[in-house]
Amino acid sequence: MTIAHVPVLAAELIEALELSPGDTVIDATAGGGGHARLAAERIGPTGTLIGIDRDPTAAERFEELAGQAPCATRFIGATFVEGLRALRDEGVLADAVYFDLGASSMQIDARERGFSYSYDAPLDMRMDPAQQLDARTVVNEWDERRLAQIIRDYGEERYARQIARAIVRARAAAPIETTLALVEVIAAAQPAPARFAAGHPAKRTFQAIRIAVNDELGQLDTALPLAWQLLAANGRLAAISFHSLEDRRVKRFLADRATGCTCPPDLPVCVCGGEPEAELPRRRATFASPGELAANPRSASARLRSARKLEVGA
Ligand SMILES: C[S@@+](CC[C@H](N)C(=O)[O-])C[C@H]1O[C@@H](n2cnc3c(N)ncnc32)[C@H](O)[C@@H]1O
Repeated sequence: MTIAHVPVLAAELIEALELSPGDTVIDATAGGGGHARLAAERIGPTGTLIGIDRDPTAAERFEELAGQAPCATRFIGATFVEGLRALRDEGVLADAVYFDLGASSMQIDARERGFSYSYDAPLDMRMDPAQQLDARTVVNEWDERRLAQIIRDYGEERYARQIARAIVRARAAAPIETTLALVEVIAAAQPAPARFAAGHPAKRTFQAIRIAVNDELGQLDTALPLAWQLLAANGRLAAISFHSLEDRRVKRFLADRATGCTCPPDLPVCVCGGEPEAELPRRRATFASPGELAANPRSASARLRSARKLEVGA
């Protein structure tokens, strides 16, 4: 069965990208190709769509899309850092680059891949199944301090220390091999009121482990400047985030480009002479409409931010 991924904030993303016939567009997180399909229609027969994804399933989806797309297409099976770097080194100039961050529904709903706390599966969580580091290694081999740190920093979990300690204790008896075995350890480490509070007790810890396994924040920090370099003058950069750790990075990156000035905030006047490189069409993030929220619960945490690259010296 083909599991569908419903693209979030699709109309809003396409509007922010301001695509025209003939544009070169880079979809840095091609996934199921929902956004890419819409972008392809906008850029038409003279346009070029480049998709990047580290998951081979996305490559298959992109191949299907390429067979029907009205534009030229190309797929790069790699992390977006590697893909964007390769494109920059080739001298590609893009009119638009966009990210739809995190895992796809195809990944989360593929039970055997171990992304979900709702199904029992081996601990995996790799977006690229050829990658060496998986969730089993993180859970069974990382020391208690490092586990507590990622659970706190990437999961924003209040009981991070208690959960890390419980994991280390449990694995001393026998390795934790499956998602549900891990869920049990995580739930038992929290006081009863937290266990029964809103949201699944393992949600934040699973998010943290997934982010660590896939180095999601490190990837984003390196990819944003690469994407910016790849943009032609007047090019558009857009990113959809699903949690505040990603959104804060995107927001800061775009705000820094829009400010230009890199002086410490306590200096009374600017001495660096930095010029703005970006225009932000909206200061605030765009959220899903009530209609989309009702149709696709995944859109509830989605936030879109975008910027236009200004012509240097203009
Ligand atoms: C939310 S989905 C994108 C869905 C897509 N926009 C659509 O409409 O179907 C995110 C995709 O990005 C990929 N991905 C996430 N981080 C990545 C990275 N650092 N490098 C390459 N691909 C990445 C995942 O494998 C996943 O397929």
